[in-house]
Amino acid sequence: MTKNILNTLKKINADKPPVWFMRQAGRYLPEYRALRQKAGDFLTMCYTPEYACEVTMQPIRRFGFDAAILFCDILVIPDALGQTVNFVPNKGPVLDPIDFKTLSLENLHSHMAPVYEAIKLIRSQLDKEGFKDTTLIGFAGSPFTVATYMIEGSGTKDFMKFKKFLYGQPEEFEALINLLVEATAQYLIAQIDAGAEVVQLFESWAGAVGGEAFEKYIIEANRKIIATVKTAHPDIPVIGFPKAAGYYLKDYMHKTGIDALGCDFTLPLPFIRDELQSVMPVQGNLDPGILYAGGEMLDRQVREILFTLKDKPYIFNLGHGIHKETPIAHVERVLSLIRED
Ligand code: CP3
Repeated sequence: MTKNILNTLKKINADKPPVWFMRQAGRYLPEYRALRQKAGDFLTMCYTPEYACEVTMQPIRRFGFDAAILFCDILVIPDALGQTVNFVPNKGPVLDPIDFKTLSLENLHSHMAPVYEAIKLIRSQLDKEGFKDTTLIGFAGSPFTVATYMIEGSGTKDFMKFKKFLYGQPEEFEALINLLVEATAQYLIAQIDAGAEVVQLFESWAGAVGGEAFEKYIIEANRKIIATVKTAHPDIPVIGFPKAAGYYLKDYMHKTGIDALGCDFTLPLPFIRDELQSVMPVQGNLDPGILYAGGEMLDRQVREILFTLKDKPYIFNLGHGIHKETPIAHVERVLSLIRED
């Protein structure tokens, strides 16, 4: 059986797992850095279909990954809703102060038109360059994770501004989540209309809350998005990646309607095999830190994943995005271990 990701997501196992890496296009690649310099600005890359297509293709040409993930960012959603986003070199994303009166779905699709255009270009470029079996993955950030950036105005370590808002103004917070649910569902449906064959929802900050907030703003919000996407496109698989969901991981897996579960690097392999992969295909979970470090530990960990998860369908991936200083030779080493006989 071929190691096509769509087969894996249909629960068909392969002798060698399909593989792609979260954030596989990016600064660890010299060809990315060159194009980034030419484009000048990160969001210009995201909103210029030819650039987004080229960057998406780079890791495919170099490594032959089994999936191409659309090159974009989770923060294009606030930008499209009217909260301007800037990516400041060496600092990360900076968002204008949130103004609820101006947030609107009205310009969503016109703002995202270049992203949809990029998806069409990527599919035709993949086919043209002989990557017909390479699956094209679309994605979005989940509402809770995107809301952390919208409220904090940047990345955060302690989420205090965010939590003051979440627990101090619950009605406004709920309205924001509802707006993001609607925007994200419409955005993913349009990505699929343009040619995305799988979509992934990144809930990178699932570890930031528990209790009722997790139920409402993580499980319920993702569930609503997936239900809406499935109404329009019942056969498109959805991968959920709830990073560091801890105690709530199984609830997330059972209640959101995902087809496959992205596993972060903290989850022990026997737990993944016995408690998660027994329920649905999983994706993960090599620590990007081990990939960065390389050496014997990398070989050992890759072999451990291959051995532990081999009996049921899974997609080999990292347990979070690749680090920007990762040596290319380490990526090549992982791929040769996966592909060796
Ligand atoms: O996987 C891919 O190759 C597709 C592209 C992709 C990017 N961001 C490109 C990017 C994807 C799927 C994302 C998701 C994303 N973006 C997440 C969720 C996944 C995760 O890592 O938790 C989050 C939280 C963001 C928000 C974001 N984007 C931050 C906090 C930053 C700055 C930190 C950093 O890594 O630089 C970004 C910038 C970003 N997004 C870059 C890339 C390639 C680097 C931009 C540059 O060239 O300077």
